[in-house]
Amino acid sequence: MDIIRSIPEMAEISRSLRHNGNVIALVPTMGYFHKGHLCLMDKARKISDKVIVSLFVNPTQFGPKEDLDKYPRDEKRDCALAEKHGVDYIFIPSAEEMYPNGFQTFIEVKNVSLGLCGASRPGHFRGVATVVAKLLNITMPHKAIFGQKDYQQLLVIRRMVNDLNMNVEVVAHPIVREPDGLAMSSRNTYLSPEERDSAISLYSALKLAEHVIKSGENSTDVVADEIRKHIETFPYTKIDYVFIGDPEDLQPIGKTIKGPVLIALAVYVGTTRLIDNAVVTP
Ligand code: PAJ
Repeated sequence: MDIIRSIPEMAEISRSLRHNGNVIALVPTMGYFHKGHLCLMDKARKISDKVIVSLFVNPTQFGPKEDLDKYPRDEKRDCALAEKHGVDYIFIPSAEEMYPNGFQTFIEVKNVSLGLCGASRPGHFRGVATVVAKLLNITMPHKAIFGQKDYQQLLVIRRMVNDLNMNVEVVAHPIVREPDGLAMSSRNTYLSPEERDSAISLYSALKLAEHVIKSGENSTDVVADEIRKHIETFPYTKIDYVFIGDPEDLQPIGKTIKGPVLIALAVYVGTTRLIDNAVVTP
């Protein structure tokens, strides 16, 4: 596996890989790999000839009061794991080269960025869309792989790729979970043992909601209430949002659940903000 730090060098490698007929898959990440990231790399390996993983803790997607400085990093461990998973190139650009003085161009995906995490984290998806567009331009992949754990992010990127006629196939990967159901996340490392016990409330709330809906409950308010009540029984939790809505465009669905719905949750456990989601069909 080659470690590439320079943007022109990465672009040159991609150009030559394409020229030689390789199918390239990109897995964009912010590093501190867990099994979720590694499954995305395995998937990339299966559907391409050459796998590029980008590792860049993107400053433009963090709010001024968010965890950019304390975001966990371990480049050496990440490189070893990526190599073990058959990655061909790990691209680790510097913030200075990605955002040099004078940088002033951003991509704004409108409606689908507004609710849910977009409402709690203003500017977040503008940063995500911009950096992903840059990474796609630099690495020129045929396919780019994203996890459904960040469901809204996936929709934002699909929208951007469609709207801007970007020549890449967006591939979704299901949520990878710990044995007890907690969705894997680099931020799980922030949790104390007691908080880790409460973190399971997101997954168990989704399971409860699924059960309630499948048992015939079709009131959005009732299901949302059940979720809230369930999470609130766990110590250290503070709900940011409980969203029940359209899985395609993230619009609210009104009072009655009639077809498949996205249930998306964001919950603070202590000071750590966790997200999880599920699409449930009545
Ligand atoms: P990061 O949080 O490092 O996640 C990188 C990719 O791994 C994303 O596509 C994310 O959805 C996926 N992922 C994380 N946890 C997962 C899990 N438990 N199951 C399945 N997939 C999982 O998301 C980002 O980085 C950034 O916003 C990025 C897209 C790289 C732009 O900076």
